[in-house]
Amino acid sequence: MQIVKPSEAVDLARNKRLLNRYRYIEYETLRILAAWLPATARMEYKLAMGRFLWEEAQHVQHLYQRLREVQTPAFRPPEDAALEKLMTEAIHAPDEGSLLAGLLRVIKPALLEAYRWHSQQTFANPDAPTLYALKHILLDEAEHVAWAEAEFAAQPVSDWERYLERLLAQAGGITGAEPRAEKPAPPATRKAFHTPMTAARDERFQILQRHWGDAEARRQSDAAARRLDEFENYSQEMLAAETVALIIHLSPNMPWGFVYDSARHCYDETRHCKLGIDWLWQHGLDHTAVPQNTRIYQWRSQFDAATQYCLLTRGNEAHAFPHRRRSLAQYTAAGDALSAQYVSYDMADERQHVAYGTKWLPELMAQNNIAMPVEDFIAETIALWQREYVSGDLTLRDEREEIS
Ligand SMILES: [Fe+2]
Ligand SMILES: [Fe+2]
Repeated sequence: MQIVKPSEAVDLARNKRLLNRYRYIEYETLRILAAWLPATARMEYKLAMGRFLWEEAQHVQHLYQRLREVQTPAFRPPEDAALEKLMTEAIHAPDEGSLLAGLLRVIKPALLEAYRWHSQQTFANPDAPTLYALKHILLDEAEHVAWAEAEFAAQPVSDWERYLERLLAQAGGITGAEPRAEKPAPPATRKAFHTPMTAARDERFQILQRHWGDAEARRQSDAAARRLDEFENYSQEMLAAETVALIIHLSPNMPWGFVYDSARHCYDETRHCKLGIDWLWQHGLDHTAVPQNTRIYQWRSQFDAATQYCLLTRGNEAHAFPHRRRSLAQYTAAGDALSAQYVSYDMADERQHVAYGTKWLPELMAQNNIAMPVEDFIAETIALWQREYVSGDLTLRDEREEIS
């Protein structure tokens, strides 16, 4: 047996400091992506952001599982004002392209390098659980960086990216060990972020400014028209992803378990949207020809986060099953395997979403200072959903409360 003489540079105290920095950066990246999802217009970016933010949640989860073994509480601030400045500034990007370039072309490549360095420098056997976490996180991060390299290949490095580079340098890099640069001045292009109360779509889409009801409400007798309607509706499920993203953004003090479940919830809805897009494409149809009913997001965003969560999980999601089961029976009977599989996978996800709603609503109510019994709140919110959503009214209040 070969006895290895320890020469590693990362001891346990330093390891904890580094893991806290990584956890913080991954968590804040998730929150920034959630905040920007409704504000981002380009559909391809929205779909990618759903995946990225869920994968960031996996990274936080890996780091959390390791951190809770070495410190209590597991989640701690990085105790570095310059690093916090970097991540609190990164949200104020001039536009969606700069936002993604800043996160994926400046911060993530540095993170990737730090994870690789850390993997070489930590005590290999004693710290094997950290190595395992970093090895798996690196797979995703390399993909995120490659995505941005390809996507923004023709986009020159902007003032915004240079600003984030300097903020990162001020923090001594990801590890904090590099020489610290001076505090940079923000570029003129910096744009203060505001909570998005409307959902952005790119120029290919038409916006439908009214509710069009569900398939039953539209009384489609023809099976083919009903099926087309169902998958056109899937191609609009970005609206649900955007509401979940907004709820994450509005709820910074919810426990990690809620953010973890909600990241999955949000990602699932972007996948349901993609499922609709794919189905249309497989039937020779263009998803951009389906008008997007962004008024649904605008209507939901008028309410506090607990009401929005209840409208979605106990209104839309809990009530979708009879319709989906009917669809599944029809597709199966007609030998339409593709549609049957898509609906089956959707229902598996939706059962989880309803369960998330049941699990987290009481705490979300408490954080929104809603004191009534949970069952009363659900009954009241479902009545609101029936009155204003199912009816198709989607009432927009004139005097909207600012919740940003
Ligand atoms: Fe969905
Ligand atoms: Fe859902």
